[in-house]
Amino acid sequence: MEMNQPIGRTPLDDRADGLVGKPLDRVDGPLKVTGRAPYAYESRALTNPAYGYIVTATVAAGTIKAIDAEAARKAPGAIFVMTHENVPEQGEKKEQVWPQLQGREINFYGQPVAFVVAETFEQARAAAMLVKVSYDKAKPKGLLRENLSAAYEPKPMPTSPGVKPDSALGDFDGAFAKSPVQIDVEYTTPTQIHAQMEPHATIAEWQSGPDGDAVVLYSANQMPNRNQPSLGSVLKIAPEKVRFVTPYIGGGFGSKLQSLPEATLAALASKVIKRPVKVTMTRQQEFHVGTHRTDTIQRVRLGADNEGRLTAISHESWSDTAIDDGFYETSANVTRSLYAAPNRITRHRMVNLNLPIASSMRAPGEAVGQLAFECAMDELAERLNIDPVELRIRNEPQEDPEKKVPFSTRRLVDCMKEGAARFGWDKRGKPGATRDGQWLIGLGMSAAARQNPLKPSAAWVRLGPDGVLTVRMAMTDLGTGTYTILTQIGGEMMGLPAEKVRVELGDTNFPKAAGSGGSFGAASAGSALYVACDNLRQALVAKAGLDAGEAQFADGAVSAGGRSVPFKDLVGTEGLEAKGEIKPGEMDKKFSQYSFGAHFAEVGVDIDTGEVRLRRMLGCFTGGRILNEKTARSQAIGGMIFGVGAALMEDAVIDPRYSYYVNHDLAEYHVSTHADVPNVDAFFLPELDDKANPLKSKGLGELGICGAGASVANAIYNATGIRIRDYPMTLDKVL
Ligand code: MOS
Repeated sequence: MEMNQPIGRTPLDDRADGLVGKPLDRVDGPLKVTGRAPYAYESRALTNPAYGYIVTATVAAGTIKAIDAEAARKAPGAIFVMTHENVPEQGEKKEQVWPQLQGREINFYGQPVAFVVAETFEQARAAAMLVKVSYDKAKPKGLLRENLSAAYEPKPMPTSPGVKPDSALGDFDGAFAKSPVQIDVEYTTPTQIHAQMEPHATIAEWQSGPDGDAVVLYSANQMPNRNQPSLGSVLKIAPEKVRFVTPYIGGGFGSKLQSLPEATLAALASKVIKRPVKVTMTRQQEFHVGTHRTDTIQRVRLGADNEGRLTAISHESWSDTAIDDGFYETSANVTRSLYAAPNRITRHRMVNLNLPIASSMRAPGEAVGQLAFECAMDELAERLNIDPVELRIRNEPQEDPEKKVPFSTRRLVDCMKEGAARFGWDKRGKPGATRDGQWLIGLGMSAAARQNPLKPSAAWVRLGPDGVLTVRMAMTDLGTGTYTILTQIGGEMMGLPAEKVRVELGDTNFPKAAGSGGSFGAASAGSALYVACDNLRQALVAKAGLDAGEAQFADGAVSAGGRSVPFKDLVGTEGLEAKGEIKPGEMDKKFSQYSFGAHFAEVGVDIDTGEVRLRRMLGCFTGGRILNEKTARSQAIGGMIFGVGAALMEDAVIDPRYSYYVNHDLAEYHVSTHADVPNVDAFFLPELDDKANPLKSKGLGELGICGAGASVANAIYNATGIRIRDYPMTLDKVL
């Protein structure tokens, strides 16, 4: 179906006490905790693989003078050493999937320069150490701040071609100049790394047959269907000849949205040696070969009247990515929809540096944009001596301020009020005025908003004679709970308990699905399954000769008008199949669709050391229908914990001499761990969004991080009276 109009009453509404929404434990949990869920690197489906190891550039700019691979080729167990001199021919770069080993030019530290294949991992690694590469070094460009003069207006991102990098409405300059109250501040956010648990890994097998070449990849990948054409372009084979198998993924946070060099190199090497090739990136390679979130410089200007009503809003953002890449951080996009004001500007500029490609990470755009904008709002509230919640309420728009269409739903004000009440926001004191022993105590808040996209997805279902509903789609589960919510949706639609639903994901031989990313996974895949089940229900009703309007599905039977027919009498010996698909239609143009929320944080700042400790944090969110109370809450608090990390610790430090990440492992690149997040909780206000999708749900995956760090930053200000505008807010900046 296409989402062209609001969804009316649905079977999910009829069974408000059904499986959907229940805090069902993860159906894949037992497999994972007992080690029976094979991740990419552990898959045994491809027999007798050789092992690959990536050799990376140790300079960030320059050219390769020579590669001496003789010793590596003669090393014990060595099978093949691939460099730019012998790599098979490749096709065009597509999206962010690049051909590998393409000559002598080096554009970033970590750029793959050779790929060594051997009988075992240890032999491949040992041989890789013997590859000698000499370079003509050039001076690298690694710092955004030093290269702003090269900034240019990016092209719209290929993933959202309709979204322009700049927007303008009214007369910002004139209105800002006339505003009695002005805020003009610059915030900076650092480079961040996805830091997912499972590194990138692939086992690739090249297959040459009478129908041409094909490749199968057991590969950790968030969006396999998206990567079929892009990797296919590089490997010069048709998209449908690229098969991804990715049933379990150990986290991604955006790092696995695109296929990375490890998959390309494994496929190419397999083509040459005619054997499966297995490779994983090391943790350091995750930093240097993989993607990251770009650092940003953001300037926010707010013009308001004396009552705090915004008349002018400007949000400008500068970010950077690799040489020849076009990715920019859409920090200011969300600002287009957040608060009312007649005069407004958003602008994005980017520069290309000697760094790996920047890409989407944990709510790209909103997460870093709200780190700046929601603090600027706090600065305005402080200036006006208005409560930050009240300031936001005064600027609540009646419709989307730039798109000029209504919001599908928007309960931001409810989230702020309800969250404030439960948190005890009224206990917030003046800046620097609250003490608890050696700790200065502060409370801070922020709004949260994350776009709600729907992506084309399809599903196949079969109700078997054993009463089991099998679901197949090329959807992925990053660890977020996709298997579980799909089990719930399938079960509830067919009136079956969770044990009677078997969900099979992560294989591009199944119907195409959105994959996991951008907070679109649950809504898109879940809706496709909803439609497939709806079609299956209709087929069952027709076979049973029952009135479709009255039919009830429960206990393995369909019933209407006092007559009940067991499924097994309807599905035959082969079972009954159905398909379903969902596409965005007009609803995402007629309505502005976001999930909303509000964060409240309490911090303590050590009076002597400047150390900041989170004391507690509460998020109040709306995301349409909640598909699973437990996994939804986990997503929300997981995002909030990311936000705490963004505010207080996450920072990939670049040494400008080498344009290289100094703290390239999880010992030195700090993410929040247990002791950093003592008391973090989240709850959802009830909501159904009938403009979003048939489930009436909205995206939640990335909502929790949006604004979360800003609430911590604003709490630091409230504790100390010191405004820090450079993330992360480490103790050296607080002192
Ligand atoms: Mo998300 S950063 O689109 O995985």
